[in-house]
Amino acid sequence: MQGIKIRQGEKPLRGQVKISGSKNAALPIMAATVLEPAEYILSDIPVLRDIKVMKAVLEALGGKVEQKGNSMRIDTRDLNSAEIPDFLMRRMRASILFMGPLLGRFGKVKVSQPGGCSIGPRPIDWHVKGLKQLGARFQESHGFLTGWGSSLKGKEIHLDFPSVGTTENIMLGAAKARGNTIIRNAAREPEIVDLQNFLNSMGAEIIGAGTDMIKITGKKELSGTEHTVIPDRIEAGTFLVAGAITRGEIKLLNVIPEHLESVIAKIKEAGFELTEEGDTLTINSAGTAPNSLDIKTHPYPGFPTDMQPQFMALLSLARGTSVLTENIFENRMKHAEELKRMGAKIRVEGRAAIIEGVPRLYGAFVESPPALRAGAALVLAGLAAEGETCVVDIEHIERGYENLVGKLQQLGAEIEIIHLEEEEKNG
Ligand code: EPZ
Repeated sequence: MQGIKIRQGEKPLRGQVKISGSKNAALPIMAATVLEPAEYILSDIPVLRDIKVMKAVLEALGGKVEQKGNSMRIDTRDLNSAEIPDFLMRRMRASILFMGPLLGRFGKVKVSQPGGCSIGPRPIDWHVKGLKQLGARFQESHGFLTGWGSSLKGKEIHLDFPSVGTTENIMLGAAKARGNTIIRNAAREPEIVDLQNFLNSMGAEIIGAGTDMIKITGKKELSGTEHTVIPDRIEAGTFLVAGAITRGEIKLLNVIPEHLESVIAKIKEAGFELTEEGDTLTINSAGTAPNSLDIKTHPYPGFPTDMQPQFMALLSLARGTSVLTENIFENRMKHAEELKRMGAKIRVEGRAAIIEGVPRLYGAFVESPPALRAGAALVLAGLAAEGETCVVDIEHIERGYENLVGKLQQLGAEIEIIHLEEEEKNG
């Protein structure tokens, strides 16, 4: 059992940190390589658990994948299966992104109900509904979903909600369908723009990603390509909060500030100074506590749900009372209970958390809920808290952050990975 120990909190973090490539851009791009039997070279692919799971799925399908550092070579010429192993589906929800490309490649797919974070039910009904509109048919039995559609046909599809994964799955299913597909009320996340750019570099013809209408002109044949994924805007936001909550000064390298506009606006509203210079972003907290804020999560370009837990930790130390409303996921407040064990004053009422700022937090033994951003939020709180904090169940953090502990150590945090015996974990 591994844990993260912050030996001594309340230390301002100072220095610079390079932001890794985006997990949520890399995952759909890795799925896209199934569409066309070819070789692909990807750069800036982060080394983390979710990427390892995606690699395992590709290999289970017959693909060859090798990752050396942040470079990845994928060969899908010998793919020989359209069935995703159940134990891999359960480990990561993003495996569902193989549905569109497997239908596009083989005209069939077999998946089980996906796993991943535990933030709400997170069904896949919209993915299925979208692919059905392209002509696929599905049958569910014993928890497995089998889909088939020998030749998908383009269609105008209106999403009930700008779902990121649904938008990506339809793009992947439509790229080699007959005719044109239009996705209306599409999600607008930067990771979708990166997927469009990757697919177009394969010879696809897609326009409109980043807006709420995406047009895909189906192509018979695509080709292999090379691509560098965009920086991870959520990791960047997490380090901005690390600088703010420890009252330090951190320079982020390899960021695209426009991908963080809503987060930057809230950091500034909280009273912190931010300097943008090209692909760097510097936060200078000037040693102050944050102002209280009213934050509501929304689809991009609104405030990202993936930054909600980190801001709950920050606002626990604000001057005054803040309100955080989670509009995307039904059950993404489990970290509140663990923060309260550290002295935070938080009341969760439905989708809203009312956070009464306190002058300080106190180190404690806390468990990361099964959601990767919640775990990161507890680490941030531990960096700001008085005394020692130990966060256990950190495999969720390792799903989404590359070398988080190493990067924080470089910024001066007294933090390390520890090994706990089972009985220690149970206290
Ligand atoms: C993506 O998840 C991200 N994951 C999530 O990041 C992120 O929180 C989320 O988008 C919202 O921005 C990846 O990109 C791999 P959705 P996704 O489809 O695609 C409901 C992280 O921390 N829904 O936009 O699953 C769903 O239950 C992760 O890296 C349906 O009801 O998000 C949720 O309430 C966490 N039916 C809402 O829509 C469906 O068929 C938003 O989901 C699909 C989704």
